[in-house]
Amino acid sequence: QDGLSGNSPAKEPVLSKDGSLLFSQSEKMESTISITVVGASGDLAKKKIFPALFALFYEDCLPEHFTVFGYARSKMTDEELRNTISKTLTCRIDKRENCSGKMDHFLQRCFYHSGQYDSEENFSDLDNKLTEKEAGKLPNRLFYLSIPPNIFVDVVRCASLRASSASGWTRVIVEKPFGRDAESSGELTRCLKQYLAEDQIFRIDHYLGKEIVENLSVLRFSNLVFEPLWSRNYIRNVQFIFSEDFGTEGRGGYFDNYGIIRDIMQNHLLQILTLFAMETPVTLDAEDIRNEKVKVLRSMRPVVLDDVTVGQYKGHTKGGKSYPAYTDDPTVPKGSLTPTFAAAALFIDNARWDGVPFLMKAGKALHTKRAEIRVQFRHVPGNLYKRNFGTDLGKATNELVLRLQPDEAIYLKINNKVPGLGMRLDRSDLNLLYKTRYSKEIPDAYERLLLDAMEGEHRLFIRSDELDAAWALFTPLLKELEEKKIAPELYPYGSRGPVGAHYLAAKHNVRWG
Ligand code: NDP
Ligand code: BG6
Repeated sequence: QDGLSGNSPAKEPVLSKDGSLLFSQSEKMESTISITVVGASGDLAKKKIFPALFALFYEDCLPEHFTVFGYARSKMTDEELRNTISKTLTCRIDKRENCSGKMDHFLQRCFYHSGQYDSEENFSDLDNKLTEKEAGKLPNRLFYLSIPPNIFVDVVRCASLRASSASGWTRVIVEKPFGRDAESSGELTRCLKQYLAEDQIFRIDHYLGKEIVENLSVLRFSNLVFEPLWSRNYIRNVQFIFSEDFGTEGRGGYFDNYGIIRDIMQNHLLQILTLFAMETPVTLDAEDIRNEKVKVLRSMRPVVLDDVTVGQYKGHTKGGKSYPAYTDDPTVPKGSLTPTFAAAALFIDNARWDGVPFLMKAGKALHTKRAEIRVQFRHVPGNLYKRNFGTDLGKATNELVLRLQPDEAIYLKINNKVPGLGMRLDRSDLNLLYKTRYSKEIPDAYERLLLDAMEGEHRLFIRSDELDAAWALFTPLLKELEEKKIAPELYPYGSRGPVGAHYLAAKHNVRWG
């Protein structure tokens, strides 16, 4: 593997001939991290990556010695980069004015190098600049590919051949999309692996960095009350819901080539589903967890067209304000059939989940912004209250809701006696609302994931076999939708989405939560 630097620098002390301890050079040296954001002029870099790096710096989570380099084709000086990113650096932990000192310190560690994505020479120049900043320290290098996927391989080739660390580790964070289907994703993996070992690749799915998603395993495996109920014996259905109250504004060009199934379902919602459904891992190590996730994916049936409904938002006027149709976006081809909404029923054919529908619903330009997991439990057998007091009493089933955003919360809907002399039941919530329980700000998903990548922790990143298994579930459906040119059901911007989603749920005896 040309140009590949060792991923794990020698750490073990070695014995000299006379039996005394010798330390490798890397043991004696202080280390430094150089973080290169490739595509630094882009939206994601400005919106998420630089602010996340600053937040880590603010919280003293970055090592003492670090530098941040922006790399892109746009011409910019270091000062111009600093000016640009300073506008989007916010301090979630503290008021902007209180953290301006730290902001200045952070910005002084940020530099910019302009270059082409396929030029080894330009990456050699970057290497020279990185080496200069790293002087005298053990250099570790992290590249964040915040660029369109068609240039991933060029960048990885140039960076690994010309700018990988000579004596420390080199790691690469790869943004989605990882291909469009099983074939293109497999090809991307093969190409990346010409230059990088699997443990150098960090395929990011930022939903795995969300607080409630991180908490899913804690909830399941460290509370006696949940895990025994976590199966077909007690759970009727599980719903994974993603909804945004805005359209593809500004990203129509990217979106039209992918659609909502690739953009949200095949990655974010499916990743959460695997964590929800997996068996207890042997340990919390990355490989043990990812092994269990792969088993879930491999136990699932590929999604079929009969179990899917697709939609696309159309223009709508409300309260004198008009909202555009998806196809009004000038970067979207006229007559595009790309779904901006989809609902699907998925099944896991294993002993734990046999017959339980796992429903997914994802849509843009809907009436709310929310991401939730909803677990609907079975009816209470032989309901005493219904028998003794009336038909509807105590009939409502329990529902556990994990709200990823906004306003992180976990709540359980229960039947409860209304206080008073009579016997009346109502549905109440046992509610853990994060903002009332915890005063500390919740970190952005990118902060956690960047920190993990720096620490070499792969738990929240997608392994290549996981990716293959995920694509295997959706590729036949995506091909069929495209080949048959299935027309999406139109729904008004800002509505609850197409009615087809309700028919699909009803077919599986489910009502959306
Ligand atoms: P951009 O489209 O803003 O691209 C980032 C940079 O890449 C641009 O500033 C530009 O820099 C360069 N670039 C853009 N198009 C091309 C091209 N055709 N050929 C060569 N270079 C190009 O992307 P984002 O910042 O929005 O996203 C980056 C990555 O992250 C993408 O893979 C995206 O899918 C993914 N992503 C983005 C999210 C978001 O919210 N924006 C969310 C989740 C994932 P220059 O011209 O200066 O070289
Ligand atoms: C991205 C999708 O992966 O996730 C976007 O490409 C979507 O279309 C975004 O808007 C949603 O992320 P979040 O964290 O804002 O829910």
